[in-house]
Amino acid sequence: MQLPYNKSAILLKLILYTGKDFMFRFDSMAIRSDPNSGERPRATSRSTDRAAELSTTTDYHRFAPIDLMSEFTICESFSDPASPYCVILENPSSYGAMVGDFLVRMGLLKDRTTICEVGGGYGSLMHGLLAGHGDRVEHVYMIDLSLGLLKRQRDRLSPWKSRITSIRGDIHELLGAVAGVDLFIVNEVMGDLDTLTGIDPSHMPPEAEELVRTYGLDIPEETFNLNTGALRLVEALCSAGVPALLTEHSCDPVIPDNMAYLARDLDLDAYPREIKLLWHSEYTIRFSHLVRVARAHGRTARTGTLLDLIPVRKGRSLETIFRLRACDTQAHEIIHELLDHIREYRWLAIS
Ligand SMILES: C[S@@+](CC[C@H](N)C(=O)[O-])C[C@H]1O[C@@H](n2cnc3c(N)ncnc32)[C@H](O)[C@@H]1O
Repeated sequence: MQLPYNKSAILLKLILYTGKDFMFRFDSMAIRSDPNSGERPRATSRSTDRAAELSTTTDYHRFAPIDLMSEFTICESFSDPASPYCVILENPSSYGAMVGDFLVRMGLLKDRTTICEVGGGYGSLMHGLLAGHGDRVEHVYMIDLSLGLLKRQRDRLSPWKSRITSIRGDIHELLGAVAGVDLFIVNEVMGDLDTLTGIDPSHMPPEAEELVRTYGLDIPEETFNLNTGALRLVEALCSAGVPALLTEHSCDPVIPDNMAYLARDLDLDAYPREIKLLWHSEYTIRFSHLVRVARAHGRTARTGTLLDLIPVRKGRSLETIFRLRACDTQAHEIIHELLDHIREYRWLAIS
């Protein structure tokens, strides 16, 4: 196992060599708010250079009781094959099982794979993946900032508990330690990571300036937001040589050839935008920037629409519902809502 020599790495190494089902609390951050104070934990913005600000959801994820249903994550929409959203699928299946199938097709899930999932939410993805492809998985590390969600993941994954290690930590702080596993999965998490907002392209803060220069990232002429946390995560994964699958709500979506109708009113080449959620904001991800980082490190970066992972029903019915907004039944409403949401999601596989 190769781990860089820094504090996070030493701590992670300790965890990895400790009893494997041990739940370690790696929490090196100073506590900025008291969870018992009755105050709502909020996402915060910190001023950096000039007008730019750093948007971070760290306190929110550390202290808030997180309700993923209010965030409408794709993973929870297909948390099991009985979910009403599965009406859109050719064969009802859980999201985790579909991710597992995709990883096998991409050559990323081989025999005796050790996986690290960052931000596993309710544990639904890993549950579906282990139920469908558990025979290929040797061990799973679940890293999450939220203690409440880590506990929920452990409950959900209890059938495989001897193979699960839960680690409480902030992925921003563990970037130097992303090594020693065969595959990272980061599903619908990058939008929560640090984002520099309100950047004036002619007076960029040093972090933005460095990323833009190092990777030759395109930027607009007007004020913009930059996914610094996601870019640093991809940079760390690439430097460590670890394969990864990352998905998120994108601002530069890819439309499947056979579903061109989904492009209606969509900007396919935009920059990260804010999505306001309960007590915090996420930012959409510019995947073309992540691809540039991965390729600059000499890695193979494959990317596409999340619909590549989710085999939806064939035939004209979905198109008709989407085009006509023909929502005269609850099933139609679900289909319209889901297509409208899912069409902006992308995946990136780094190998
Ligand atoms: C939007 S939820 C997605 C959950 C799940 N992957 C899904 O798709 O339903 C984001 C997850 O990432 C975790 N998270 C957010 N920021 C994090 C950070 N900086 N480090 C580690 N985990 C983080 C949250 O606690 C939560 O589990």
